Amino acid sequence: MRVLVAGASGALGSRLVPQLIEAGHEVIGTHTSSAGGERVRALGARPLSLDLLDPGAVSRAVLGSEPEAIVHQATALAKSDWGKSLDKAFATTNRLRTEGTDALLAAAGEAGVSRFVGQSFAPYRYARVGGPVKTEQDPLDPTPPAHAEETYAAMTHLDEAVTAAGGIALRFGGFYGADNDGLVEPVRKRKFPIVGAGGGVMSFIHLDDAAAATVLALEHDGPAIYNLVDDEPAPVREWLPVLAQALGAEPPRRFPRWLARLFAGEAAVVMGTEARGASNAKAKRELGWLPRYASWRQGFPAVYGNGAARARVG
Ligand SMILES: NC(=O)c1ccc[n+]([C@@H]2O[C@H](COP(=O)([O-])OP(=O)(O)OC[C@H]3O[C@@H](n4cnc5c(N)ncnc54)[C@H](OP(=O)(O)O)[C@@H]3O)[C@@H](O)[C@H]2O)c1
Repeated sequence: MRVLVAGASGALGSRLVPQLIEAGHEVIGTHTSSAGGERVRALGARPLSLDLLDPGAVSRAVLGSEPEAIVHQATALAKSDWGKSLDKAFATTNRLRTEGTDALLAAAGEAGVSRFVGQSFAPYRYARVGGPVKTEQDPLDPTPPAHAEETYAAMTHLDEAVTAAGGIALRFGGFYGADNDGLVEPVRKRKFPIVGAGGGVMSFIHLDDAAAATVLALEHDGPAIYNLVDDEPAPVREWLPVLAQALGAEPPRRFPRWLARLFAGEAAVVMGTEARGASNAKAKRELGWLPRYASWRQGFPAVYGNGAARARVG
């Protein structure tokens, strides 16, 4: 198939492009920066500069490149300023997930492209009631934490718009495996504490496993939503010390809730203490997907061990 990958130069896009080519697809990869364009070309795809927030340009790009499938992997998190408000940090990403998704879907409709796969997110979003691990059938959190409402709503918009158009929304776990993984620096500097009893459950996925699942999803008929996470959703008190150890960092600090709320905001407290993880059973069953890194327990040491990440991030 000829596949248009929006955000081909990003953390996931750059893992996805080689796997698509390996599977026999022809890839047109969009980017915004010139460095991104070089990366896309080096990966073997045809680079296309495109701002997803310009609907006219999106329409022209899709009509002009005549893809048979579209994959939306564009976010704007590399330069995010992480403060107490998730909505501020995610402001442009939220627009890419709402306006960007709508523009791509409209262009897909115009061009008669029926295969569409979008990047969504699983952790923190499921309702904070009942058991620790949730399926795609379980309800989403009806009361997101303060200053995270727009971010949660943008992910829901993407899920709904993509599936309404017959496409597939992939609710990925927290990515790891890239040079610029957002968790590395805070954990190395002991700025990522265990809050309260550290009971908030997280689901992770290695970027190569996320890319492999995307290739499989492209060959599957929608509409559908899949959690793409590893086999071991785990509370912060379990995974964070393992990550710190893999990075050669001191063990994480422990903060009471009030202190974490003061420094990091309400969302950080909720995520660290109440969040639910996600089940990958549906993706395994329907997509035939199996993660190569079945758990962060093996993945973190494999990716970050022996000082590898320290060397990369300087
Ligand atoms: N599920 C998750 O945990 C998750 C999801 C997403 C990202 N992240 C993390 O966030 C960090 C940064 O992610 P990233 O490296 O993928 O960088 P990013 O800045 O989020 O960029 C991702 C892609 O979107 C493109 N893009 C940015 N703005 C755009 C726009 N207006 N229109 C069209 N495309 C646009 C980028 O192009 P250019 O390269 O040309 O700028 C790039 O190809 C990484 O650590 C990553 O793991 C985590």
